Amino acid sequence: MTEELKKAAALKAAEEIRSGMMLGLGTGSTVYYLVQHLGDLAAAGLQIHATATSRATEDLARQNGIPLVDIAKVREIDLAIDGVDAIDPAYQAVKGGGGALFREKVIATRAKRVIWIMDERKLMPHLSHVPLPVETAPFGYHFTEKKIKDLGFIPELRTRDGEIFITDNGNYILDLAGNADMDYRIMAHKLKEITGILETGFFSPICEKIIVGTKNGVIVKTK
Ligand code: A5P
Repeated sequence: MTEELKKAAALKAAEEIRSGMMLGLGTGSTVYYLVQHLGDLAAAGLQIHATATSRATEDLARQNGIPLVDIAKVREIDLAIDGVDAIDPAYQAVKGGGGALFREKVIATRAKRVIWIMDERKLMPHLSHVPLPVETAPFGYHFTEKKIKDLGFIPELRTRDGEIFITDNGNYILDLAGNADMDYRIMAHKLKEITGILETGFFSPICEKIIVGTKNGVIVKTK
C-alpha cells in the first residue's frame, strides 16, 4: 500500500514538468517512481534534462533514458523534486535516509522551485524524535563525534551490510538521536560550526509545495 502512495505522489509531481525543463532529481524510493515515469514521458517526446542528487539516481535516470547533465555544467535548475524522511507542519524536513543529503541540499538550494513528494507516514508533528543524519569527513571523525555528543546528541555511525556506509562524496554518515527539547533548526546551525561536518540533513522550508500520497488520495499542500 505504501508503495502505491509513493507512486501516486510521484506521478502527481510529474504533472508539474514541462518540455525544456532542467530538473533536479532527488534520491530514494519515492523518487524512483518519478524517474521511471519520466522515462515513459521522455520516450513519448517530453524534452527534459536532469541533474541527479546521487549516483543511484544517475544510474536510474540512465536506465530510463533521461539525458543527464553534470552539475558542474548546469546553469539553472528549473525544478527539483525529492523525497523526505520526515516533515513538520512548518515544512521543515529531515532528509538523508539514503545518505544523499549533501547533494540533495546543493540541488534544492540552487533550484528555482522545489517540490517534496512522500507518503503520509512522513508527516510528523515534530522532527525531534527523528534521527538527524550528518555527513562527516572520515579524517578525525571520532573528534567530530565527541563535539556532537557535547551538543547533547547520541551519534551512531551508519553501516550497511556490516561495513561503514560511505557517501557518494567519500564521507561517513552519523545518525544523531536528539531529544524532545531540541529545535533542529538551531541545532543544525550548531552542528555546521563543527569542523568535520560537511552538511546536516535538516532542511529549512525551501519547498514551494509538498505532494503527499494518502489512503484517501493525493494531497497537494502549497506553502
Ligand atoms: C536520501 O538521502 C533521502 O533524503 C531521501 O530523499 C529520503 O530518505 C526519502 O526517501 P524515500 O522516498 O525512500 O522515503
